[in-house]
Amino acid sequence: MSAKFVRAGTLEELDAKGRLVVRGSHRPILVVSDQGRVYAFDNRCPHMGFPLDRGSVEDGILTCHWHHARFDLASGCTFDLWADDVPICPVEVRGGEVWVKAEFGHSEPAAWWRQRLEVGMAHNLGLTIAKAVRGQLVAGVAPLEILRQAALFGARHLEGWGAGMTILTALGNLLAILPEEEVFLALFHGAARLAADCEGAAPHRRRSALGSRPDHSTEKRWLRRWVAVRHRDAAERTVLTAIAGGTPPPALADLLLAAETDRVFADGGHSLDFINKAFECLDLIGWEHAADLLPLVIGVMAAARGADESTEWRQPEDLVALCERAATELPRLFTVGRDRGPWSKHAELAQLLLGDDPKAIITALEAAISAGAAFADLGRSLSYAAALRIARFGLANEHGDWETAHHVFTYCSAVHQGLKRIGSAPNLSADSGAARALLHGAMAIYLTRYLNVPPARLPGEADKSLKDAPSTVDEIRAALLDAFDRQHRVDEAARLVSRHLALGYAPDLIIGALAHALLREDTGFHAYQIFEAGVRQFHEWADPEPRRHILVAVARYLAAHSPTERALRQTADIADRLSRGDQLHEDAG
Ligand code: FES
Repeated sequence: MSAKFVRAGTLEELDAKGRLVVRGSHRPILVVSDQGRVYAFDNRCPHMGFPLDRGSVEDGILTCHWHHARFDLASGCTFDLWADDVPICPVEVRGGEVWVKAEFGHSEPAAWWRQRLEVGMAHNLGLTIAKAVRGQLVAGVAPLEILRQAALFGARHLEGWGAGMTILTALGNLLAILPEEEVFLALFHGAARLAADCEGAAPHRRRSALGSRPDHSTEKRWLRRWVAVRHRDAAERTVLTAIAGGTPPPALADLLLAAETDRVFADGGHSLDFINKAFECLDLIGWEHAADLLPLVIGVMAAARGADESTEWRQPEDLVALCERAATELPRLFTVGRDRGPWSKHAELAQLLLGDDPKAIITALEAAISAGAAFADLGRSLSYAAALRIARFGLANEHGDWETAHHVFTYCSAVHQGLKRIGSAPNLSADSGAARALLHGAMAIYLTRYLNVPPARLPGEADKSLKDAPSTVDEIRAALLDAFDRQHRVDEAARLVSRHLALGYAPDLIIGALAHALLREDTGFHAYQIFEAGVRQFHEWADPEPRRHILVAVARYLAAHSPTERALRQTADIADRLSRGDQLHEDAG
């Protein structure tokens, strides 16, 4: 129903006071006059809600007196992009009286807020991004649609895949399981971190597909060649050709993984992780955007340095040569084990992967394959072993070593997701990168064995320290968040997560508490990655023990990196309260 005009006062009063404020069931309306014209606005500054009637009017410009944002009187548009435009409303002068119509907003709020998200991301304005995300959610826009807008913004403004796109995708993967109150924060974090990446970045220079349509094995051969010699243009055109030719996602994954794994554990595992995230982003926003997104990872692949160039993979044992030999053997063993499944020794294999003899580790993998373990089985064991490195991370290590443990876990989890994707491809070829990725993950776990010397004790049900621990869901959540409020509460966080699960409470509740702990921090790129990988790996298992160990690993890592300034959370709160019409300036006072 459209609003009616209401009387604001007389022109005489307006001239005498300089401004009128109309209150009612609607939001307060500010009426001002300048140079013989009358204007009406929402009286709340769009920046942080300060009453604009306390501002000043001069030369057709309204200035807010909190942070001095300036607005064009005629349109409400701001001169200061961080403040946003102020909504105006219709005003009429009838026989010396001023009448206003409390009609704000936009005829299409979803479209308006979508455009604001574009502006906010283009100028890296956190509050504008937060308001645009909140505005779209209030207007009924689906969270995945907001994620799609942000991802495509990144595709247009980035030359290469990086932290922002990874964070956005990691959080996007979790949207379906996040508590409702965290969905806004997740989308805001994703879009804001991506906008920060895009600021000042060189926009993507598009290449095009070739005019021909080579077969899959030719494309794979070509891509491996171009990535090996770091010829990005050629590599990108090859991938675009495969996309244009309708190559299905499993075969695209096979293509990229083959070229990626010609370098060992490239860029500390980030490169393969980014490829996996690009695929997952397409799962979320639609594969019709493959030609927009996949080229972003090609530059990363071409530029990446492999661990085969480093000493630790070469001496005292040549792990690269060991992997190469094993990779040639694995396809045959898969054939041997093909009809022997189902295989279920995932946890046992994970323990063997934590051993200190690389040859024995490879033998364990070969035995599992011969016994019927499929790609997805091996990926699960690999990821669990890597999670145990974090769960048992010794606190005598340097703080930076957490990142070493993190890299191996997120790499192994990405390998697992990639193996599952490729595993559905028919006619898997012997030159697939899948076998190499698996072996590289296993050797990366082997190389980080020093992180568990001495190993941290895993919290268990018999743990004496649990005797006086909180017992209800709410008590455990409160104690966990309290632990994250203080530094170095690594083992306390682990014990609380473990206790929640040991008492048989719903896992989603403790995962929700961890999500809350993550999303209230200005957390680093790795924390998003580890949380998402941990939650995904948790859901791979039905057995309680691996599930508990994986969440313990997540809780320990997050606790080691909390608390932070929490500036993002403050920005999100401001956007939230502006959306509800709360008064912010009074609190600030
Ligand atoms: S400029 Fe108006 S509240 Fe900040």
